Amino acid sequence: SDSGKSVDERLSEVCSLLRNSIDYYDWVGFYFKNGDKEELKLGPYAGEPTDHTIIPFGKGICGQVAVSNQNFVVPDVKAQNNYIACSIHVKAEIVIPLFVNNENIGQIDIDSHTADPFSAQDEEFLQFVNQSVAGIL
Ligand code: SME
Repeated sequence: SDSGKSVDERLSEVCSLLRNSIDYYDWVGFYFKNGDKEELKLGPYAGEPTDHTIIPFGKGICGQVAVSNQNFVVPDVKAQNNYIACSIHVKAEIVIPLFVNNENIGQIDIDSHTADPFSAQDEEFLQFVNQSVAGIL
């Protein structure tokens, strides 16, 4: 039903719901490809503000997913050499691409303060979340 909420308001609610529901989801946000530019732009998120509002394709975990079109699960961020640190508290990260009509248009990015918390179930769940989100964009 149309409650008059904007897409950004809905995505912001998705982020807050995920962050509040799952104890090892400490930062939840969407990045979207920025027009014709070879970069990602931060969209709605829940958690601490980040300086990384623009990420070039190929840079960090997010930038790599923008070009690989693949899920990227990082059990230990310290073991990654192409990684952009947003907070000293973050130990692990998962990034799942967001497809609309088979096109990778962005991603959901989750940071965790827990070491190695993400399983195949998180991947499946977040793919489902992204499919649902694709339906409201
Ligand atoms: N850690 C990410 C950058 C985004 S922050 O996690 C919000 C990366 O390496 O791409």
